[in-house]
Amino acid sequence: MVAELRDRIGSEVGKVVVGQRDVVDDIVAALAIGGHVLLEGVPGTAKTLLANAIARTLGLEFRRVQFTPDMLPSDLTGTMTLRGGELTFRPGPVFTNLLLADEINRTPPKTQAALLEAMQEHQVSVEGEPRALPDPFFVIATQNPIEYEGTYPLPEAQLDRFTMKIDVGYPDEAAEVSMIDLAHRGVQPAGLQNVARVASASDLLEARKLVDATSVSPEVSAYLVAVIRRTRDLPSVSLGASPRAAMHLLAASKAAARLGGRDFVTPDDVAQMARPVLRHRLILTPEAELERYRPDDAVGAALSSVPVPR
Ligand SMILES: Nc1ncnc2c1ncn2[C@@H]1O[C@H](COP(=O)(O)OP(=O)(O)OP(=O)(O)O)[C@@H](O)[C@H]1O
Ligand SMILES: [Mg+2]
Repeated sequence: MVAELRDRIGSEVGKVVVGQRDVVDDIVAALAIGGHVLLEGVPGTAKTLLANAIARTLGLEFRRVQFTPDMLPSDLTGTMTLRGGELTFRPGPVFTNLLLADEINRTPPKTQAALLEAMQEHQVSVEGEPRALPDPFFVIATQNPIEYEGTYPLPEAQLDRFTMKIDVGYPDEAAEVSMIDLAHRGVQPAGLQNVARVASASDLLEARKLVDATSVSPEVSAYLVAVIRRTRDLPSVSLGASPRAAMHLLAASKAAARLGGRDFVTPDDVAQMARPVLRHRLILTPEAELERYRPDDAVGAALSSVPVPR
């Protein structure tokens, strides 16, 4: 059922986005475990288009917020307004099921922090009053790599709330050629209206139940924990994966198993999910950074130094 859901969503998204199927798989896995997702990639790699298309396939209320340098927390959370002599709350765009937080690292820390509270607590505070968000509440955020100009890198605590950071790369040559053949209106892709709703909130709920019921053998659990612990003592890493990261990796591995049509987790599922789940949580040593070593390299080193159960 989860794999079939992924296929339905994937083929709709495929009407406007060529390639990037792994990205769609990972996003569906994250939605099935109620996780938030950060899409990272250089400009013009269809991050926004992909998030918009996925949102259209889901029967969820959806809002998109463009994060800008002059944005205030209240632009996200809402404000108290005087209406007919009475003070009433006007909810901001965060009050939705699926929030596309576009270019999240273009806004200063204060507004990022308001989003952090929303992601972590499923509530926001407006003038000291906590207000609960709808359920489900998912965030798909996009950002350009932090070395780009005019960005405010997200603090570690904020990054840790994202279940996955998915790298969106360039399409391969064949995909780029067929992209040119897609319908366009001027410079805009024309097919977004044709992307249909193919999944409901209850489909996602059912997917979540199945994923939760996926079994994990003691050997595979031990392997997962060993990989997590290994990230903490790699010489290239100054901050390794947290216990929270271990829980997120377990959930993502279960989702990967279901996407593979299985009801049990294999070491391969763990290895496959290790990069998207761990890469944004590791802090490399300054020496490793200097040598242009990447967090993905560190995850790879952890994976290859832990014996795989069989
Ligand atoms: N894989 C792809 N398939 C189809 N169209 C693509 C693909 N990659 C890029 N495009 C085209 O590039 C345009 C730009 O995509 P989009 O605005 O989603 O990029 P982005 O990654 O959000 O960029 P930025 O970081 O600048 O916001 C799309 O509207 C689409 O026409
Ligand atoms: Mg964009």
